[in-house]
Amino acid sequence: MQVFHTIPEMRNFVRQARAGGRSVGLVPTMGYLHEGHLELMRQAGKHCDVVVVSIFVNPVQFGPNEDFASYPRDLERDVRMSEKAGVDAIFNPSIQEMYPAGFCTQVEVGRITEKLCGLSRPGHFRGVATVVTKLFNIVKPDRAFFGQKDAQQALVIERMAADLDLDLEVVTLPTVREVDGLAMSSRNRYLEPEERRAALILYKSLQQARELYRAGERDASRLRRLVAAMIATEPLAGIDYVEIYSYPELEEVAEIQGPVLLALAVKIGRARLIDNIILE
Ligand code: PAF
Repeated sequence: MQVFHTIPEMRNFVRQARAGGRSVGLVPTMGYLHEGHLELMRQAGKHCDVVVVSIFVNPVQFGPNEDFASYPRDLERDVRMSEKAGVDAIFNPSIQEMYPAGFCTQVEVGRITEKLCGLSRPGHFRGVATVVTKLFNIVKPDRAFFGQKDAQQALVIERMAADLDLDLEVVTLPTVREVDGLAMSSRNRYLEPEERRAALILYKSLQQARELYRAGERDASRLRRLVAAMIATEPLAGIDYVEIYSYPELEEVAEIQGPVLLALAVKIGRARLIDNIILE
């Protein structure tokens, strides 16, 4: 496995792979890898001849009061884990490499970014769409792999790829969970032991919503209120949002008739955790 820090080196590697007729899969990450990332890499390996993982903590997707500076980083560990997962190359550029002096272009996806995390984190999806467009242009993958835990992000990237006629397939894979149900996230590292226990309320409340839905509940605001009330029973949890939107359009729903996304963002200690399920 090779590790590249510059765009020309990365491009050269991909050019050679393509010249040999091999397909390329990209797994974009911000590093501090966990089993969720490794599963994306393994799936990429099943569907593509060559797997590239990008590791870049993208400053432009963090707000001024967010955790860019403290976001966990451990390149050596990430390199070891990626190699074991069968990755062929890591792209680990510097901020200067990605955003050189004079950089002033941004990619803005409309409508579907105006809710959920787009509301709580203004500018976040502009930063994500911009860096992902750059990564797509640098690596030119046949397929790019994302996790359903970041459901809105996956929809934004799918929308962007469709709207801009990007010549690749965006693959979204199921959320990988700890044995007790907590969705895997690099930010789980921020949780103190007591907070880690409290964080289970996200999964539990989603499970309760699924049961209510199965029992016939179709009133979206009642379901939202019940989920919010359950999260509120956990003293360490501060709700950012509990929302239900049609899936994948992300439009308002009163009565649940087709598939909907039930999405949560909850602050526990320093960690802002997100999770979701699709009810259909
Ligand atoms: O999901 C992430 O880790 C990031 O948002 C991504 C897609 C790598 C862009 O920086």
